[in-house]
Amino acid sequence: MQGAKVVRPFPFFRAGARASQPQLAKPILVLEEVYKFFRPDQPTLRDVNLKVERGEFAFVTGPSGAGKSTLLKLIYRELMVDEGRVLFCGRDIARLTDKSIPFLRRNLGIVFQEFRIIDHWTVFENIAIALEILSMPQRLIRSRVAEALERVGLNGRGDEQTSNLSGGEKQRVAVARAIVPEPALILADEPTGNLDPHLAIDILTLFEEINSTGTTVLFATHDHSLISKRDHRLIAIDEGRVIEAQQGLKHWPGSGIHTLVG
Ligand SMILES: Nc1ncnc2c1ncn2[C@@H]1O[C@H](COP(=O)(O)OP(=O)(O)OP(=O)(O)O)[C@@H](O)[C@H]1O
Ligand SMILES: [Mg+2]
Repeated sequence: MQGAKVVRPFPFFRAGARASQPQLAKPILVLEEVYKFFRPDQPTLRDVNLKVERGEFAFVTGPSGAGKSTLLKLIYRELMVDEGRVLFCGRDIARLTDKSIPFLRRNLGIVFQEFRIIDHWTVFENIAIALEILSMPQRLIRSRVAEALERVGLNGRGDEQTSNLSGGEKQRVAVARAIVPEPALILADEPTGNLDPHLAIDILTLFEEINSTGTTVLFATHDHSLISKRDHRLIAIDEGRVIEAQQGLKHWPGSGIHTLVG
């Protein structure tokens, strides 16, 4: 394949096999004593300590308003922590300079509940944008987008108008856009929230396939039925604090989980 000969920038930070040995040994994400306040008297997140290893798949859960989206926003720098630190690939993301923002864009893929794709663009254009902002050459963009389309089950559908796709297909386009730069970490914020239950399982399975190739996935959802089908690590937010189970709902300590997930 032609694309394989191109030396990609920053291979040091890439997912899976392309990461260097010292990089692989470090957790991909560390939150240290993180606080986020929207009201001075009541932190939305308080003293959050979290370590995510490279290659993990974890659900982030908790009831509506618990702070799931806030937690993810602190990781992708939509919001800044008020106290504490977020380390991504060993780097404090609050201290990234403007010059380092491509590092985040390249290494973090984000998928939202409402897809956030551009309806009047083609499928190809919606995915290619993630590489165009990294100034990748067109020839390489074409081969990388084709590869991403295949991975999400939309092989050969790049020329279609996005507005004609079903909800599940639109979310696959959004997933393709997130994975096409081959990020080390994918953040998904209620990615199945707008989909029927059987499509929700399809999309969850798609994220699991992506995870199986070495990409770390944080999947925020309050969908109890989805969480209960899998044994993934569970990171729950309860009154601003993070409580965890390493192997999913079955292993949840105590009986309070039903108040935490819908
Ligand atoms: N920009 C903001 N300004 C003020 N308050 C905010 C802001 N963003 C979030 N909040 C508040 O922080 C709390 C957590 O919100 P967040 O959106 O993180 O919850 P969530 O767990 O993602 O909920 P949902 O399941 O409904 O998506 C809520 O009380 C919300 O009102
Ligand atoms: Mg949310």
